[in-house]
Amino acid sequence: MLLSVENLEVKYGNIQALHGISFHVNEGEIVTLIGANGAGKTTCMHTITRLPPPEAPRVIAGDIKFKGESILKTQPSDVVKKLHLALSPEGRRIFGNLTVLENLKLATYARTKDADLNTEYNYIFNLFPRLKERRNQRSESLSGGEQQMLAVGRALMTGCKILLLDEPSMGLAPVLKYEMFRKLKQLNEDGMTILLVEQNANLALKLAHRGYVMDTGNIVAEGTGAELLDNPEVKKAYLGG
Ligand SMILES: Nc1ncnc2c1ncn2[C@@H]1O[C@H](COP(=O)(O)OP(=O)(O)OP(=O)(O)O)[C@@H](O)[C@H]1O
Ligand SMILES: [Mg+2]
Repeated sequence: MLLSVENLEVKYGNIQALHGISFHVNEGEIVTLIGANGAGKTTCMHTITRLPPPEAPRVIAGDIKFKGESILKTQPSDVVKKLHLALSPEGRRIFGNLTVLENLKLATYARTKDADLNTEYNYIFNLFPRLKERRNQRSESLSGGEQQMLAVGRALMTGCKILLLDEPSMGLAPVLKYEMFRKLKQLNEDGMTILLVEQNANLALKLAHRGYVMDTGNIVAEGTGAELLDNPEVKKAYLGG
């Protein structure tokens, strides 16, 4: 088990956002967390990546373990540098006034001195040829889909071994959604372990090896992607019947 969340309870101020949830990710898997708005999906991602205050969710019980060891005391910068966990955040959060290349470059701060960055840039530009074409363009002038690609590329530039994606298909037209999901599949086939948060339950469950369904801070169903796609309650609540 690479990453495990165990009976995790989390609060923002006095409001409890996670009510004792457990899930895990094995090496090489794509695992998805699905659920409606406010279910606590982003909170999970921010708790795992130790998002610094003031937005930080506060852990009041439970644990998060990486290879069996608690990471609750790990500094946020070490989550990237030492555990090689990187987040492509909800809403992209790229630096609009910097170029594509500059955004990617910024993410290499976590790398050891002689990491082979050229191979890495080439990998990302192969995965997303659009980014290559636009590498010297200011990021704010990219389309929504291209910005999403950049957010994923930036997370990859940290040299991560586990990629956390918070709604990578948000705001994309259907054809670009499928495209993004194909790229995620390719990344996984190249060896990347992926924890994927998605509102598009149908696409996410088709892609993922396993999934968990969240509802108001609880996990209410879990199983393989195929099992969840076939689960009548999941169908009714998240797959449009
Ligand atoms: N910084 C914060 N301060 C206070 N409450 C927060 C904060 N962030 C999230 N919450 C609350 O925690 C709960 C879970 O929110 P979260 O963002 O994790 O949901 P989500 O599943 O990612 O939803 P969405 O699909 O809309 O992105 C919500 O009730 C939300 O209002
Ligand atoms: Mg969210």
